[in-house]
Amino acid sequence: MASSANPSLALSLLVVSAAALLPMLASSTTGGFSFDLIHRDSPKSPIHDPDSTQFSLIRAAAGRSFSRAAYLFHGVRKVQSSSSASPPDGAADNFFSEIKAAGFEYFMKFTLGTPPREFHGIVDTGSDLIWVQCEPCAHCSHQNGPLFDPQASTTYKAVSCHADYCPVLQQSSCTTASTCQYSYGYFDESTVDGVLSTDTIGFDSAGSHPVQFPMTGFGCTHWSNATLEDAGDGIVGFGRGSLSLVRQLSSAIGSRFSYCLTSFAPKSATSRLNFGSSAAVSGSNAVTTPLFSGKPDAFYIVRLEEIVVAGQAIALKDSEKLGGAGKGNTIIDSGMTLTLVDNATLHAVVTKIASNVSLRQVKDPSGVFILCFNVARAGSSDLLPELTFRFSGGASMALPMENTYVLAAKRTRCLALASSDLVGGVNLLGNLAQQNFHIGYDLAAMKLTIAPADCAKL
Ligand SMILES: *[C@@H]1O[C@H](CO)[C@@H](O)[C@H](O)[C@H]1NC(C)=O
Ligand SMILES: *[C@@H]1O[C@H](CO)[C@@H](O)[C@H](O)[C@H]1NC(C)=O
Ligand SMILES: *[C@@H]1O[C@H](CO)[C@@H](O)[C@H](O)[C@H]1NC(C)=O
Repeated sequence: MASSANPSLALSLLVVSAAALLPMLASSTTGGFSFDLIHRDSPKSPIHDPDSTQFSLIRAAAGRSFSRAAYLFHGVRKVQSSSSASPPDGAADNFFSEIKAAGFEYFMKFTLGTPPREFHGIVDTGSDLIWVQCEPCAHCSHQNGPLFDPQASTTYKAVSCHADYCPVLQQSSCTTASTCQYSYGYFDESTVDGVLSTDTIGFDSAGSHPVQFPMTGFGCTHWSNATLEDAGDGIVGFGRGSLSLVRQLSSAIGSRFSYCLTSFAPKSATSRLNFGSSAAVSGSNAVTTPLFSGKPDAFYIVRLEEIVVAGQAIALKDSEKLGGAGKGNTIIDSGMTLTLVDNATLHAVVTKIASNVSLRQVKDPSGVFILCFNVARAGSSDLLPELTFRFSGGASMALPMENTYVLAAKRTRCLALASSDLVGGVNLLGNLAQQNFHIGYDLAAMKLTIAPADCAKL
């Protein structure tokens, strides 16, 4: 353990942040809590554009998938090259700062400080750190509400640079006041600088009283040229690394969270994010597959063994980048829309679908989608073959038609799969495939549980 000039704070960070909450959660009726996960294009989003069409939205989301994939791949590559230089333990966590902050899909509301103030955070299952823009900010992205003011919160504390958590951030240093300062270089070349801090974080639990977690670690950003697109005041990391929200709350939530994403269109229903016992995914249709650890720590990695289409099973390869033989080969991510698979798999799937479907093929005018059909004739969408994803451990996910073929233009449905070769050949399971499934993450047991669900009603 690192020596600490402020042992009580270091101890608090490691021990108190979650444990202090146990009595409060135990007193609630369910032992868990849930809140809304807001899609960037939904009416509840501050960047909702009422003039956009379903077609323009899906194309924009598909386009963002590639910058997101490039960011995630950049992270994989970066960690591999840095591990050969044997970085300090935990330093690999820092890859997460490579996010292209502009490419996001969901955000959430949370409160910070005492008295609590509300913020919007971009939800990122591919990164760990929680951060908000703070006063004073020499240079910050425009945000709709005021910045977080540490001076105005009676429970705010800056973390000592001698605390155990400080070295987790690769680019950290000591300020003259011995606080832990960080500087992140982002994939899109933007940077955020700030002070690692703790304060009370809270959530408006749906159908219950608000829940609060004192002494939660977060970054107080005082300089940023990151693009938050006016929608977020910062980023909430949901990865597996030690600074993420789920890891910091792990003892209070039994290391479990889940989400249920509603259909991409229409976006009137709200998706849910659940913690603790509320994150239990059950039912006779629930299937379970192992989560694999890999570098970087933040990622959730599964092993996708086969894609079954029209009676043919197409096997996927191992991923040297993610884990090698018999290990995980696919990152499951809520921050991108399309699903990306290696080129050979994609072409085998496309060839099989094309030979199975008698509908007229049309070219995607936007050039994003690889295979599109004219579905003008009533009932023609029913002719499109289902895809089934088979994961290790015998878990299967039979994707409904809307999860596989998106309405990309009038009378046109396109396959929502793309090649991952341009972004390093890492398979990525996107959020469109996951819609209307309840997906539970158990970080203690390292398993993922999946069950079909009507997420608008869950
Ligand atoms: C953001 O600031 C950093 C550090 O000053 C600089 O290197 C980078 O080019 C800037 N990026 C953008 C997108 O402006
Ligand atoms: C498409 O696949 C289904 C399921 O295997 C099969 O029943 C059907 O005959 C196939 N259609 C064509 C035209 O190959
Ligand atoms: C992907 O595979 C197809 C068919 O095998 C091939 O024609 C194409 O050139 C490949 N593209 C890339 C980027 O490897």
